[in-house]
Amino acid sequence: MRTERTPAAAGGVEQAEKQAVAALFQEGRLGEIVERATKLTVLHPGDAYGWTVLSAAMLRQGRNEQAVAPLRRALDIAPEQAGLYSNLGLALFGLGRTEEAMACFDRALGIDPQAVGARNNRGNALEAGGRLEEARQEYEASLAIAPDQPRTLYNLANTLYALGRPAEAVPRYQAALALCPDYAYALANCGVALMALGRAAEAEDCARRALRLEPGLVEARILLANTLLGRGYPAEALTVVEAGLDLTPGPELRRLFVAGLRGQPSPAPGTPRRERLLAALTEPWGRSVEVAAVVSPMLEADPAIAGCLERALAAWPGRLTAQDLYGPAGPGAVAGDALLCAWLDAGPASSPALERFLTLARSCLLAQAAADEPHVRDVTPAAKRVTAFHAALARQCRVNEYVFQVTAEEEVAVAVLRDCLADALAGCGLIAPSWVLAAAAYGPLRAVPGHAGLLERPWPEAVGRVLTQQLVEPAAEQELRGRIPALTPIEDDVSRLVRRQYEENPYPRWVLPAPAEAPTSLAANLRERFPRADLAGVPDGPTLDVLVAGCGTGQHSLETARAYLGARVLAVDLSLTSLCYARRKALEQGVGNIEYAQADLLRLGGLGRDFDLVESSGVLHHLADPAEGWRTLVPLVRPGGVMRIGLYSRLARRGIAKVRQMITDRGLAATPETIRAFRQELLDMPWEPSWGRFLLGDFFSSSGCRDLLFHVQEHCLDLLEIKTFCLENGLRVLGLEAEPEVIAAYCARFPDDPAAVDLGNWHAFEADNPDTFLNMYQFWVQRTA
Ligand SMILES: C[S@@+](CC[C@H](N)C(=O)[O-])C[C@H]1O[C@@H](n2cnc3c(N)ncnc32)[C@H](O)[C@@H]1O
Repeated sequence: MRTERTPAAAGGVEQAEKQAVAALFQEGRLGEIVERATKLTVLHPGDAYGWTVLSAAMLRQGRNEQAVAPLRRALDIAPEQAGLYSNLGLALFGLGRTEEAMACFDRALGIDPQAVGARNNRGNALEAGGRLEEARQEYEASLAIAPDQPRTLYNLANTLYALGRPAEAVPRYQAALALCPDYAYALANCGVALMALGRAAEAEDCARRALRLEPGLVEARILLANTLLGRGYPAEALTVVEAGLDLTPGPELRRLFVAGLRGQPSPAPGTPRRERLLAALTEPWGRSVEVAAVVSPMLEADPAIAGCLERALAAWPGRLTAQDLYGPAGPGAVAGDALLCAWLDAGPASSPALERFLTLARSCLLAQAAADEPHVRDVTPAAKRVTAFHAALARQCRVNEYVFQVTAEEEVAVAVLRDCLADALAGCGLIAPSWVLAAAAYGPLRAVPGHAGLLERPWPEAVGRVLTQQLVEPAAEQELRGRIPALTPIEDDVSRLVRRQYEENPYPRWVLPAPAEAPTSLAANLRERFPRADLAGVPDGPTLDVLVAGCGTGQHSLETARAYLGARVLAVDLSLTSLCYARRKALEQGVGNIEYAQADLLRLGGLGRDFDLVESSGVLHHLADPAEGWRTLVPLVRPGGVMRIGLYSRLARRGIAKVRQMITDRGLAATPETIRAFRQELLDMPWEPSWGRFLLGDFFSSSGCRDLLFHVQEHCLDLLEIKTFCLENGLRVLGLEAEPEVIAAYCARFPDDPAAVDLGNWHAFEADNPDTFLNMYQFWVQRTA
């Protein structure tokens, strides 16, 4: 925000002194000005000049509080100075005293309607308070008086962009740049607005110019990386991002690092990129399971692992000895790979080839456990690394709910191992770590009689983590069961069936959520997502009441609770098991603004509460009648409030529909054994293009696979049905979630719908691009009626 240069009051201070002070201002020597001005106020207390200069220097130093008193003294002497009121407003605004500040700006403009400084300051205050339309008018008024103000043009452009009017913002940025070509911020923001208009080449040019001027300008770097990614140059984008990560690490650059890694070769051990990759996976820099999906092809190509994969795939479905699987170095050949261990820990491992290698690695672990004497301990560093790898493998097996193939021989050997463990626990006998790890890799340790005794013994750290995952965390969830209230009865037949499925198979199985970013208002969040949407009336305040209907295991509700300023979240689900997982994870993540409750969303009409935002993603299509469920939720949204809905696309799931039909025709029940066996059959079948990318995510855990292919109840919809529902229920579309290149393709095809909200157009677009919504239609609507 700019400060106003205030003319001195007449009399008192000498002209030469004023000139000297003006020179100091020019040079930005604020400390000296404060010293000099303080003396002037002592020598000439009745002259407004000293007080004015003192306060102006203090304002520039950011000392708002100290500036107030000299400003008031100056105003006592010269009460008709518009600039003094403007500066007083500035100081008060900086102190959070917005109403008093606005009164000062008004007073300044009452004295001198042409005072552009006061107008600009008033505009800034309005903009910061979210009163964008008024801010726009103020800037326009200021520019009508003095058109050549680059900063005001820039502020006006920013406001227009925030109002969803990038086409009007661009010429204002350009006007600012014509006056001030080295204005790096204007260049960067101009690029962002151009990008929103689909003018990617111009946006890229702006980003490059801005970065040349200011390499630390993170907005420009993000823009450049996005344009490069959009043009299909991930390697170049990655270079831009990595340079930025060295200068200004931040969540957006980290997200782009993960995006840029897609399809890149595996970084060599010891390189900075490898280190970053490990951080991205463990901190994590996105949802851990999603970062892991990017890492999978790198691991497949890793020279040490690739050899194991080759041997595993050649032997499949046969098992190999450790020597034959790993080569002469044994498991140590891969066990020291921190990336592999972190990947195993990040969530269900989504790679068919690696799954087969890991299935064989697990069988080697079982063989080792059968051979290990009970006193065997991992004493050497190499043995410790192998234990850590086996522990990560066991944790992976638990998180994917034992989805790997098991042979009859393995089942027998595991039963023997469990008996040995139980005997040792009962008789206080010695237990080798490999026994625990192998048993944990084939089934829950809780099934071993006397398992609590495992927690009383000392273990290597890696084994301890397996025990935490398998014994401590489930016990904590069990403990929470009695503490989650039931808000409604669950009586509907389909709700009961669906509940049963998710009690047995909570969804999704997740490990770490996406990192928290600085929370924003809902309106600001949506402006980021949908730069050209009309967001009039969307909640923009410092608090937000949110309902998550069908929160599952809580990954999504936790991210929502962190995303919004002052969010107060009620998250409900049918499945108590899912809710307990969600609650434990929220405690683990230190998130306290979520209230979990068991409820059937069909009965939420009687809740007596309403919300600014209602989210229901991947839920309504599991009701007997999705429209009935959606209709129940609409009145819970306050007028002007927003819904985020996720629904299956009939077209995108056409391949999955065929697989589901196969399952129905064969009368396959959704048991763990059937799911395990059927997955392997699918993996062996010739690839069906219409299966799309579905093999990439949910397929890799039992619960996910059941949700994906074996669901007890699902409907698919199309965008015309959704459009009709919105029209009939007073809902206005704010935007559809899609990759930037998809939005760009849509906008190129439908230039008359720059906000990309016409579901009829999107329906036509989807017909030609049937895999667009493989991950569901995820869209935002506003309640207008
Ligand atoms: C596929 S999961 C989606 C979970 C979560 N929304 C997400 O995206 O991660 C579907 C969830 O909806 C819940 N659900 C289905 N029907 C419901 C209903 N009538 N009332 C409340 N929850 C329901 C299920 O219990 C399940 O946890």
